[in-house]
Amino acid sequence: MIDTPDRHPALQPRLLGSMDLANRLAVAPMTRISATPEGVPTELMADYYAEFAAGGFGLLITEGIYPDAAYSQGYLDQPGLVTQEHIAGWRAVTDRVHAEGAHIVAQLMHAGALSQGNPHRAETLAPSAVQPRGTMMAAYGGSGPWPLPRETTGDDIAEVIEGFAAAARNAADAGFDGVEVHAANGYLLDQFVTEYTNLRTDQYGGSTVNRIRLTAEVVERIAAEAPEGFTVGVRVSQTKVNDVVYRWSGGAEDVVVIAEALAKAGAHYIHVASEGRSWFETAQLADGSTVTGLAREVSGLPVIANGGMHDRDQAARVLAEGHADFLAIGHVALANPDLPRRLAAGDELAEFDPAMLRPSVTIESSIRWRQAG
Ligand SMILES: Cc1cc2nc3c(=O)[nH]c(=O)nc-3n(C[C@H](O)[C@H](O)[C@H](O)COP(=O)(O)O)c2cc1C
Repeated sequence: MIDTPDRHPALQPRLLGSMDLANRLAVAPMTRISATPEGVPTELMADYYAEFAAGGFGLLITEGIYPDAAYSQGYLDQPGLVTQEHIAGWRAVTDRVHAEGAHIVAQLMHAGALSQGNPHRAETLAPSAVQPRGTMMAAYGGSGPWPLPRETTGDDIAEVIEGFAAAARNAADAGFDGVEVHAANGYLLDQFVTEYTNLRTDQYGGSTVNRIRLTAEVVERIAAEAPEGFTVGVRVSQTKVNDVVYRWSGGAEDVVVIAEALAKAGAHYIHVASEGRSWFETAQLADGSTVTGLAREVSGLPVIANGGMHDRDQAARVLAEGHADFLAIGHVALANPDLPRRLAAGDELAEFDPAMLRPSVTIESSIRWRQAG
């Protein structure tokens, strides 16, 4: 494809880890709780992911997938990557996505204290026995306060790491191009990073270097075992599903410690999420630099920015000013699965309607919304 001066910079191809991506546009990870009760991906899910691939997205990041049959599952009908049935279900998804010329990574998510539906365990796990802020999310099938979690022991931590490693092996068997370790948005690994949910006094608590340690150990283990050409990314964030105003208290110093630890662990990219806020609002630092830009500089790794990246001007600015290399798009991708094609053609984007995710965030809700429109 010939680049013209008015072509949007997000449409340029680029390598991310081992993935030769058609453009800088990724579908952000979005939980859709549309698997079977046993966590097996369905044909409807394959259709859903294939539509983004056909719509021109270079990369698809899956919804958060639970990596073990112990404490990790967050939601009923969330997909897993634990059993042979899970692997076979995901194989159908990755085949469809690859047939459209896109790449796909599996987001591995341990919900920790924010689990609100887990048939495998009655209790939840967290770095410390701290009551999570806020209440469970109704659109994901929960209600009322989160349960008080149990503090993880050393054995639990070893099991968590083993679970992520096994799920990454299963992801490779299912045909994924890589995995993204979910250390953002308030789930288990982020609970370790966050000061008020991590009151530990061992090597996993206290300093920022200690609080990012579990994430780094998970990434390191997966990267060490990854087959040739398998990409290992990691997603971090300051904001959380149950706390959109939290910011790392160390500011730029925390960004440096976190980005260095993740690069040293062998991550191939860093994805910085904005939960419910725009990129600039969550990324700006006191000195005028940004979390994404600084993480990129310190780690030397490609960075994916997120939060309102469907805005053409902001997207162009983020790439042109070196704040990030890739852009992950959530809500508006749901309304525009063909967003890259629309951007290339200069077409208007359809507006996201929150009714698409009501009464629950399932794919069926979105289909009903489309049929009604
Ligand atoms: C329905 C829905 C489900 C989401 N599920 C996940 C998830 O499983 N993992 C994750 O890291 N982020 C999840 N997110 C957050 C998005 O990846 C993204 O960070 C957020 O929507 C902000 O980006 P946007 O402004 O482009 O929408 C979800 C968002 C939505 C709307």
